[in-house]
Amino acid sequence: MRSICFVFFVILVCEGTNSLFLPGIEYRRLRNSAPSLSWMSRSRRVAPRHRIINPNEDCFLVTSEEEQIFFKSPSNEPTVCGIYMIAEPDKRIQVTFDYLNVRCENEGLVSWVDGWELSGQVWPADSWNDDRVLETCDQRPARTLISQQNAALIQYRVPARGQGFAITIKHVKNNKPCNVVLFGSEGVYTLRNHGEAGNCSVISVSPSTIRVLNIDVGQTVKQSRKGLMDFETGTIHHCKKRGLSDYVDIGGASGLDHTKMFVYENMCGLDSTEGHQAVKIACEDSVVRLVSSGKYYNSVTLAFAPLPMENLESADFMCPF
Ligand SMILES: *[C@@H]1O[C@H](CO)[C@@H](O)[C@H](O)[C@H]1NC(C)=O
Repeated sequence: MRSICFVFFVILVCEGTNSLFLPGIEYRRLRNSAPSLSWMSRSRRVAPRHRIINPNEDCFLVTSEEEQIFFKSPSNEPTVCGIYMIAEPDKRIQVTFDYLNVRCENEGLVSWVDGWELSGQVWPADSWNDDRVLETCDQRPARTLISQQNAALIQYRVPARGQGFAITIKHVKNNKPCNVVLFGSEGVYTLRNHGEAGNCSVISVSPSTIRVLNIDVGQTVKQSRKGLMDFETGTIHHCKKRGLSDYVDIGGASGLDHTKMFVYENMCGLDSTEGHQAVKIACEDSVVRLVSSGKYYNSVTLAFAPLPMENLESADFMCPF
């Protein structure tokens, strides 16, 4: 199986008829994949070093591999397709265009997106700006493209038979991951602000059970980091309402834009014994967002697990439609 994707993601894609950057996007329906298998475990089984895109199957392609990908247009149809690239949370995506033969005439276009875009929503929306998109035709981007987080996207429309392009995908180290897409919804991840101001998030593209294993948010003051004992406040709820500057939001979203997330729980504090209570989020996407003023070293460790379809009804939180 060449295309790997999560069932909710597929639904999202199949419903998505509008693309922000390439209007008229219409991905063909993918054959359904079992939602219980993790994205990661299935993608590991497919490891071609060189892949030739099969236009009938791979219009919506998700890959977690380092590989070279070729595309040659089979027709003059202005079909818009996408290569959704994802790496481990502490990696960035690096793309080099090995060649590009896509003419601007007939509206041929290839775009690099430093993030993901789906149904008109972008991720990570928090730190979005136009520099994240590079559109090209006639000439390949000379420079190597590197994403700011562990996911990036190539969108293409090549309405001329025989034209195409080749890219090489590599994963490079990210020493300060901030926004992260999780493979499936499995695993433990620590979200940190690295002492900086701004918002970081973890998004899982499926319904998930989220457990907070450890929280240190709005407590460890930067200046006094050395020498002072940390004081366990326990988990504090409704921190935003209390007017505290640094907090964690846990909830879900209907789409990739986590700034429009629905918040189920808002918390801060210092608590190393969290973890007894898991939150079941029944949304297209499960999101944890860390808001930081820059005054503290914040971190929150989370365990993500898939929320099976049959448990959706017992969820703690459902996103409104
Ligand atoms: C971070 O999130 C807060 C709360 O949603 C918002 O007010 C602020 O503008 C965000 N900061 C950035 C840099 O996006």
